[in-house]
Amino acid sequence: MTRVRKVQHQHNVHLKEVKISHARVDKAHLVRSDAKVQKLNDYILRAKEWTSAENVKRIIKKYGETKLDRMLMACENIIKVSDDTGLTKGELFKIAKYIETKLPYKVKKGKAYLRKEKTGLARTIEYKSKRAFIHLKTHGVQALGTGCHKKVTRSIMYAAHKPEVVANCVGDKTVKAEGRILQKLNGSDGVVKTYAFSTHKKKSGRKVYSMITKMYNAHTVRSYEYDRSHLENRNEAAYIARDLMLGLENMHAKKLAHRDLHSGNFMVHRTADKVSACLIDFGQVVSFKKAKKMAPKIEVARQLVTPESLLKGKHRVDVRKIESYAVGCSLYHLYFGTTPEWCEKMKQMRVSKLNRGQKKLLSEELSRQMRATIDRRNEELEAGNKKYKKLGAVILKLLDPDPKKRLSPNRARIMLDEVIKEIESKR
Ligand SMILES: Nc1ncnc2c1ncn2[C@@H]1O[C@H](COP(=O)(O)OP(=O)(O)O)[C@@H](O)[C@H]1O
Ligand SMILES: [Mg+2]
Repeated sequence: MTRVRKVQHQHNVHLKEVKISHARVDKAHLVRSDAKVQKLNDYILRAKEWTSAENVKRIIKKYGETKLDRMLMACENIIKVSDDTGLTKGELFKIAKYIETKLPYKVKKGKAYLRKEKTGLARTIEYKSKRAFIHLKTHGVQALGTGCHKKVTRSIMYAAHKPEVVANCVGDKTVKAEGRILQKLNGSDGVVKTYAFSTHKKKSGRKVYSMITKMYNAHTVRSYEYDRSHLENRNEAAYIARDLMLGLENMHAKKLAHRDLHSGNFMVHRTADKVSACLIDFGQVVSFKKAKKMAPKIEVARQLVTPESLLKGKHRVDVRKIESYAVGCSLYHLYFGTTPEWCEKMKQMRVSKLNRGQKKLLSEELSRQMRATIDRRNEELEAGNKKYKKLGAVILKLLDPDPKKRLSPNRARIMLDEVIKEIESKR
């Protein structure tokens, strides 16, 4: 081959190679763009019920696929945990988009409470304790409860992977005080779990306080007094009783008395395989020292006055036993299906209007009635279903008229743990 022909040949070979590699690149490019189109189509299909195709394209272009993925995941998971948010899918998606994209900038500017009127979203959102909350309030959904000082509504604790429906308790200064107590107690078993405390001004300019807590999904223990059908068996009462006693034990370890221990302040939570309970409403909490000075009415409810607190001067009352008695009265209702018979009478009494002698007489009379009822119930237990006997016996021991014989929250909790152990070993 002459030199010229050799060069020409090499050039031709090179051209051929370039052509082939171009074709390869084109093919690879096509495959890649095919995959891209496919992925976009998948996103459009997945987002169909939440937002338009145009919006999907816009979001991907502006914020990237990962952000879009998070928004969609959050929406999908939110409706999994709450079938009723009162929001349309479009509204929920807009909120998720805002939280994923704009909220971080607002937070940097120090804005944590973002009213729906300002953001144009369907609900007010709030950023607190490193979490975003969507406040559902009462727009198309019912409140969880209302009391004298506070209103409790649902909120969504936002997260792409594990969002949660939570309870938002909003109210006046009593909620602020309650928040302080809960901060002291937070993390304690048997006490409502809190996620955030905050404050904001209402449209009227009035300052309000809020606490965001775990939402207990199975109503209060009081609701079981009206409708026992959803208390599936009395074993469940053992778990409720144990958790409430544990809550008391933990409060008492900090020398705090709850003072408002009625069944409307005991929340129940149910999952597929577990029942649990906790104490709520810390608006009346005082130290043991203060509580002692309040005798005979340490508990707010009139029917919960104990025989020993009517006897002034003879001994110092044990706040722990007064509180285990108060919870015991609700547990009695849960177990036997009626309030302790003597409580009905105590409801009518105005103990503060009685003189010392009258209080003494009342105390003796109350003790007698309690003893007689407890003896009768113990006989019933002996004759009745052995399966639930132990639980019944613990509950009755919480109501002993003699505070020395009455179980403290700690003793009761230990005994209830044993009852539960037995239940679980038989499963
Ligand atoms: N964490 C919660 N989960 C579900 N419902 C709740 C929760 N906290 C409060 N509630 C509901 O709100 C009602 C009022 O709450 P509570 O704290 O007892 O307020 P108040 O001090 O006004 O009595 C409760 O009886 C209960 O029905
Ligand atoms: Mg209450």
